[in-house]
Amino acid sequence: MIIELIEKKKRGEALSAPEIHAMIHAYVNKEIADYQMSAFLMAVWFQGMNMDEMIALCDAMMHSGEVLDLSDLDGVTCDKHSTGGVGDKTSIVLVPLVAACGGIVAKMSGRGLGHTGGTIDKLESIPGFQTEVAPSDFKRQVREIHAAIVGQSSRFVVADQMLYALRDVTATVDSLPLIATSILSKKLAAGSDVILLDVKYGEGAFMKTKADAQVLADTMCAIGAHFQRKVRAVISDMNEPLGHAIGNTLEVLEAIDTLQGRGPDDFRTLCIEEAGILLAMADLAADESEGRQRARSALEDGSAFAMLCQMVEAQGGDVRYVKEPQRFAKAPYIKQLPALKEGTIRALHARSFGELAMELGAGRKCKGDRIDPRVGIVLHHKCGETVAADTCIATIHANRELSEDWIRRFYEAVEIEESSRDL
Ligand code: URA
Repeated sequence: MIIELIEKKKRGEALSAPEIHAMIHAYVNKEIADYQMSAFLMAVWFQGMNMDEMIALCDAMMHSGEVLDLSDLDGVTCDKHSTGGVGDKTSIVLVPLVAACGGIVAKMSGRGLGHTGGTIDKLESIPGFQTEVAPSDFKRQVREIHAAIVGQSSRFVVADQMLYALRDVTATVDSLPLIATSILSKKLAAGSDVILLDVKYGEGAFMKTKADAQVLADTMCAIGAHFQRKVRAVISDMNEPLGHAIGNTLEVLEAIDTLQGRGPDDFRTLCIEEAGILLAMADLAADESEGRQRARSALEDGSAFAMLCQMVEAQGGDVRYVKEPQRFAKAPYIKQLPALKEGTIRALHARSFGELAMELGAGRKCKGDRIDPRVGIVLHHKCGETVAADTCIATIHANRELSEDWIRRFYEAVEIEESSRDL
């Protein structure tokens, strides 16, 4: 059967829903070999899929494992998903922020791979914080405190776990129908009523252009509507890292700072924008503007931070670290890097910083690699800002001395245009 389906897709023909369901079922039951599925994925990469095929694939993947039923929770349940980027610690702020404003937020997150970080790795840098939580405990926590962020169980959307691992090693990750169905199948199986998608574009993201990100966003919203879920998308820039911090503990510290009413402007603005949309979607605010206002107040009056503390405690984390962040273990080598010339920062290449942080030990090259929560990069400037020569542009947190090659690549990732008077 699979050979016929590969043939069909190779010729650019559409598969029927029963064909797609049978194929996913057979693959999960190991009746289709990885090399055959790889050929099918590559055919999809070249030929694409129409909306009916994507709906069928999403449905088949969603039902390839446990599906959570949150319908007995008292209120509208909310979820968000980012297509991934560098320095993206948004969930750590958004989940308690929306919960503090009356939302019920049930979030399943992933680990980082390659240049992008993962929320679960970041949260695990809080000593004791448990991310492997049974579905019944996850639901109980959401019912009791209205906020939870847990890792995906291995019984959840099994087909996506198998297909994603295969896509990762067959150069088929960056396919719009495969990304859309991978993300949506997980969001639908996680059971929330309203879903906000943060679709990133730029050099640190899967989608390189804003136009491609818009097509992906529209596709996912259309699939979500078919499954009677309210899905909205924001398109956001991932050409430069989000906020200042890249690395697990460093990002948790930035999230804590933001939940205490501070934090970098770009990151704080994105969190408030996303919270405003979710609150309006869940009918907890008359419109997005009122939602944003409520979110700002929750950041300023301490209620969002209090909700983070509750969530950390509920998941076994040592809340003293959140309340007294100086307790977090620091990396043994901390080095400040100066600007090499005076001028305006024209680019901070997100992908390069993601890779540089990964090499310090903040991320993993391969699935089983261990990460060091202490290490990473804190950038002290954003694009468009001017710097004087010798001012510190970044602090590097490392567990060994930086190599010359690493420092050389760091400076390649920072583009400074000299001020005209110096030219
Ligand atoms: N995130 C996912 O969950 N799946 C993809 O395919 C890409 C990004």
